[in-house]
Amino acid sequence: MIALKCPQIEVVVVDINEQRIAAWNSDKLPIYEPGLDEVVKTARGRNLFFSTDVTKHVAEADIVFVSVNTPTKTRGVGAGKAADLTYWEGAARVIASVSKSSKIIVEKSTVPVKTADAIEKVLRRNCKDPNVQFEILSNPEFLAEGTAIEDLTAPDRVLIGGKDTESGRAAIATLASVYAHWVPRERILCTNLWSAELSKLTANAMLAQRISSVNSISALCEATGADVQQVAKSIGTDSRIGPKFLNASVGFGGSCFQKDILNLVYICESVGLQSVADYWHQVILMNDYQKQRFVERVISAMFNTISKKKIAIYGFAFKKDTGDTRETPAIDVCRGLMADGARVCVYDPQVEPQQVYQDLGTEKFEWDHPSPRSPPIAKTAIAIAPDHMEAARDAHAICVLTEWDEFKSYDYQAIYDSMNKPAFIFDGRNILDHAKLREIGFITYGIGKPLDPFLVKSY
Ligand code: UGA
Repeated sequence: MIALKCPQIEVVVVDINEQRIAAWNSDKLPIYEPGLDEVVKTARGRNLFFSTDVTKHVAEADIVFVSVNTPTKTRGVGAGKAADLTYWEGAARVIASVSKSSKIIVEKSTVPVKTADAIEKVLRRNCKDPNVQFEILSNPEFLAEGTAIEDLTAPDRVLIGGKDTESGRAAIATLASVYAHWVPRERILCTNLWSAELSKLTANAMLAQRISSVNSISALCEATGADVQQVAKSIGTDSRIGPKFLNASVGFGGSCFQKDILNLVYICESVGLQSVADYWHQVILMNDYQKQRFVERVISAMFNTISKKKIAIYGFAFKKDTGDTRETPAIDVCRGLMADGARVCVYDPQVEPQQVYQDLGTEKFEWDHPSPRSPPIAKTAIAIAPDHMEAARDAHAICVLTEWDEFKSYDYQAIYDSMNKPAFIFDGRNILDHAKLREIGFITYGIGKPLDPFLVKSY
């Protein structure tokens, strides 16, 4: 976006992964994101370049954005919670060793609070030239996948944190002037370093908390006959609560929510705030409960036995309009169903079969490391269908796990006719027309919706 909006600024994206850079320089970009192709096509070769020559371009840069991944640690102290800063530290060492001029270093990756402190030490100790100064800024990213280009074009806010020193304030002003090319000044918020780092973790924690809150109420709705969509609408009209992010679901996924909350929990524990840590950890536990509750609902509805029954999974991505499967609730749901002996058959319009095998065979958090250490699951353990009809043929049930728009327009009569009876639909996203499905003959379950009489009896 900087390259697009500021033609006078030269932007070079560097990565040591040659394949990835080659893809960025080709017609098939390494990630799918609506609108990204146009942005890259407009700026590439003009003032946007992709290169593996890290040394040259970092040495020449005035501002370096560090966007390496910060996975959850899988071993050692803080395993399962703390962020692994290996890649960040590695990047800092490279920057320090090649720098011959002073630079602004921008933390773009989501990092634990006080990371800037540690990074500054690495930079100072590893740079041989005493005249080179590094000023560290925190500039967290708030874009969401699927709407990234829109979010970058018109962000709610840009947050820049820096030190309250003369050079710190000057660095903040420099970065703010870059964003000011297209972001209104009143939307560029400047804070101290730690506030910026903590704001990113807090924003994600509070967004995830909203989903866990509405999901907890969805369980209560099913037990009482209330309808979670009606409740969400009723509370969302209160302008203090607001209508967004209140869709009950089978659970939240994505690469950030769980990771960032665990990180927050770890930081709280590290500074002795156990009650605060427990409070935020509950958001994750509620998310796990929701996925488990969904699996148990499927099993109990289907007469407490799904052994050898075929179950179609509609949607594997963590949300619609992306092929991203990181921490998708579909992983835990499929594993839960398979553990009870079901034959799971997945259909997703964007996710590659290889990705499904890899995800179901990979241990928690391992996916976020460059080469996952667990092997992909055996291809015989799970089926992947080329289309939705194939997935549902002879199945006993369909589970909708991603809210893809195309799922709404299928011919459910034809699907019903091809399935075993009684035919069940478990709508984990509440996107289908449940009344119509019941008319066709499906036994239909929606998250947080009044229960089908058939399910009340068998639950
Ligand atoms: C999230 C945040 O929304 C971004 O602001 C943040 O920058 C980003 O993480 C990040 O830290 O990189 P993202 O993970 O791309 O963005 O996707 P979201 O739209 O937030 O959805 C996350 C999960 O919550 C999805 O599984 C989605 O289906 C689920 N969700 C969302 C619900 O179950 N109900 C809702 O009402 C909304």
